[in-house]
Amino acid sequence: MAHKICVIEGDGIGKEVIPAAIKVLEATGVDFEFIHAEAGDEVFEKTGVALPEETIEKALECDAVFFGAAGETAADVIVKLRQILKTYANVRPVKAYKGIKCLRDDIDYVIVRENTEGLYKGLEAEIDEGVTTATRVITRKACERIFKFAFELARDRKKQGKEGKVTCAHKANVLKITDGLFKKVFYEVAEQYDDIKAEDYYIDAMNMYIITKPQTFDVVVTSNLFGDILSDGAAGTVGGLGLAPSANIGDEHGLFEPVHGSAPDIAGKGIANPTATILSGVLMLRYLKEFEAADKIERALEEVLAEGLTTPDLGGNLTTFQMAEEVAKRVEKY
Ligand code: NAI
Ligand code: MG
Repeated sequence: MAHKICVIEGDGIGKEVIPAAIKVLEATGVDFEFIHAEAGDEVFEKTGVALPEETIEKALECDAVFFGAAGETAADVIVKLRQILKTYANVRPVKAYKGIKCLRDDIDYVIVRENTEGLYKGLEAEIDEGVTTATRVITRKACERIFKFAFELARDRKKQGKEGKVTCAHKANVLKITDGLFKKVFYEVAEQYDDIKAEDYYIDAMNMYIITKPQTFDVVVTSNLFGDILSDGAAGTVGGLGLAPSANIGDEHGLFEPVHGSAPDIAGKGIANPTATILSGVLMLRYLKEFEAADKIERALEEVLAEGLTTPDLGGNLTTFQMAEEVAKRVEKY
């Protein structure tokens, strides 16, 4: 039976990188049914709603959601969709590919960001003129869920020869109550995983360590805002946002999207790097248990990157679609 995929291109380069990545997905021969839906700035300008009810329904009934980018409405679109789909784990691989200028060539870890609470719960208020607040929500339930996810991921990676370690990043010395709980629950969950190492760092030091010793990490787990910031920095160590994919995983739904936004500075020029979206497609294939197709795409992409057949952000001279075609050609050949 065909995998039903809800496709939301969204705004800006979302309209370029999603069709390019779909071209690559189709080259695998896997049976997909793509169901297109609207969200973002453009539909907001037309209708006054950034995330239409119809889009939510399609996202809920499909086997997975493939998302491009939203612009200024991102908070009302993607942050909301992650909450509606209850995708509590935001998985962001950080991997050095050959042919890409990276800080080191042995970087290969995954950032797992808690996706439902923290400072992104959206509990902001203006309590007086010139006085504003934001409430940081950390619950034991969400902590247990995200840490279990991180340790299970480390276990899976260990089977593939990785170290088997989870690093927790927090700020429990200052945010004593919220991150105090975060750190405490981390080590409680760690006790259930004897085979996996557990360590923790303060988020500010962690921000340095992803630069000074990125090769020592395997799975890194952190809260929502910290994970957002840390993962863009991490992307910068392995070639930039054009290469950074992500998966949003819950118990019932999965949403796959590049880490980058709508990039208005390059939108419409056909030069956006499709790699982040293609790799998000690889994560989606693994979620759908299409492992062989996922491996094929990753191998094809590795070849294309190593040969320098890239968009201008990586020093090449191909357009978004030409780069995707190079990948698709190789996928068909395997
Ligand atoms: P951005 O990720 O769109 O762009 C940051 C920089 O990276 C820009 O210079 C851009 O040209 C470059 N870049 C991003 N993706 C690239 C690609 N595939 N290939 C080559 N270069 C790429 O972030 P920015 O500029 O802070 O935000 C732009 C808009 O995107 C805003 O309206 C923001 O709200 C929205 N946004 C949406 C997100 C989402 O939908 N998940 C995430 C982040 C931002
Ligand atoms: Mg971000």
